[in-house]
Amino acid sequence: MAGQQTDGEVAAVDILSHYIDDPDFLDEAGREPTDFLLKTFINFMVALRDPVGAALPWLVYNLATHPRVVSGVREELVPVVSRASSAAGTVVFEPEELKDLVYLRAALFESLRLFPSGPIERKTVIADDVLPSGHKVHAGETVLVPVYSKRRMESVWGGDCREYRPERWLSEDGARLRFVPSYKFLSFNTGPRSCLGKNIAVAQMMSVAAVVWNFDVEVAEGHAVEQKLSVVLQMKNGLMVKVKKTGECV
Ligand code: HEM
Repeated sequence: MAGQQTDGEVAAVDILSHYIDDPDFLDEAGREPTDFLLKTFINFMVALRDPVGAALPWLVYNLATHPRVVSGVREELVPVVSRASSAAGTVVFEPEELKDLVYLRAALFESLRLFPSGPIERKTVIADDVLPSGHKVHAGETVLVPVYSKRRMESVWGGDCREYRPERWLSEDGARLRFVPSYKFLSFNTGPRSCLGKNIAVAQMMSVAAVVWNFDVEVAEGHAVEQKLSVVLQMKNGLMVKVKKTGECV
């Protein structure tokens, strides 16, 4: 994030300092942070770390159990690898080099579709209203959207809704991402309270490309991959994997 200019240079500023330095978030005396600022920080601490931490193991798991998708991602990476740098025989990618890769992005969205970091979306009604479906809601009531279950509804995602199939995100020629409305996908929420960090999260998760290119990953034999009953969809037992450098013999 760009900050104040010093001698023509733009100094880097982290997102928290950006808020702290904003006088709008201090009390009237300009000294103490407002309640809103404290809540914003808590929001960022929860929103930043947990959803990506929960989503990455599911992505690695989906890739490890779908070699066909790994081949597709590697194929897409071939032209990028020729430009990328490498350290100690391991190819390293910059976010800029990965941002336009559609198949990798589709693999990521498909993993978040099946395993949304927030499996339930909870809203509190502030005023009596009628939903587009015709359902009446009253102030103070809670509306729960079962995001996780919606992924497994044939009426929403089709007969293959339980399958991990990145192709559903792609145009027919595979060259572009298909438009999927945010109210259907919902992993980043929809409407005015949508995830503010979606692009950062996607950029962070695209870095899984380095794992896909440099390593063969297998789920450890006998390891039980299970979902944890929680507001964040984590893996109950974590993910234990066997990792081998690509091209190396066992
Ligand atoms: C895979 C990663 C992520 C997923 C699946 C995700 C998903 C979501 C969802 C579903 C919400 C709405 C929560 C609600 O109101 O019920 C949300 C809100 C939010 N997210 Fe994310 N998020 C991710 C990563 C991030 C990251 C990396 C950041 C920050 C850099 C971030 C910042 C936020 C913020 C600030 C909000 C609150 C927006 C508001 O209340 O107006 N998220 N996120």
